Amino acid sequence: MNPLHRTKDFASETAALIVEAAKASIAARNRFRLGLAGGNTPKRVYAELAKADLPWEKVWITFGDERCVPPEDDQSNFKMARLSLLESAKIPNVLRMRGELEPTEAALKYEAELNALAHADGDPRYVHDLLLLGMGDDGHTASLFPDTAALAESERNVVSNFVPKLGVHRITLTFPAINASRQIFFLVEDAKKAPIVQEILAGGSPHPAERVHPVSGNLKWIVGF
Ligand code: 6PG
Repeated sequence: MNPLHRTKDFASETAALIVEAAKASIAARNRFRLGLAGGNTPKRVYAELAKADLPWEKVWITFGDERCVPPEDDQSNFKMARLSLLESAKIPNVLRMRGELEPTEAALKYEAELNALAHADGDPRYVHDLLLLGMGDDGHTASLFPDTAALAESERNVVSNFVPKLGVHRITLTFPAINASRQIFFLVEDAKKAPIVQEILAGGSPHPAERVHPVSGNLKWIVGF
């Protein structure tokens, strides 16, 4: 199946695909475990999603990564999600990565929260019903940037990752945690990223985003070009 899904109206069509996944998950498991991407691309998608008529009390929100800043900082992925989705949809179950903490501690705390939920279900690690991911113009996804230590993590689910090109730490899901998802949507609206998407779809690229392969789930690239 072609993983590339081209859209005319990126925000509304992507939101509709998320709603479709939510309804299927709630019908099957009476819950929807949705992992949010950060950055700028998802903002308009989340604003459209917030308008959907969903049983939001059955939606559990997690994050793919977070900047090491407090939740009220303009750089915070949580703040972006709060303002575009969480407040207007009044979503009660949100697991926030604590960007205000020392990065290693924040990662350990988040991993413990996810593990507790997973183990309660008898799962070895947390399984997102749908994980949303963005992609940077260097082929990174979540905060798994080229040439960073977290790319090699094969056991942990959440780590802190120092990103030399930014000079900061980030908190991020690892590839094992990402690839445990039932479904993954990459959201890429900017046509300038099209060549990287094509390199990844062709295979054999060095881009971190190419290492996203749901173990027993499926992957869509939802693009605005
Ligand atoms: C972050 C994101 C990151 C983002 C890409 C794309 O914290 O910045 O999680 O992986 O998705 O950098 O960002 P844009 O959507 O802003 O281009």
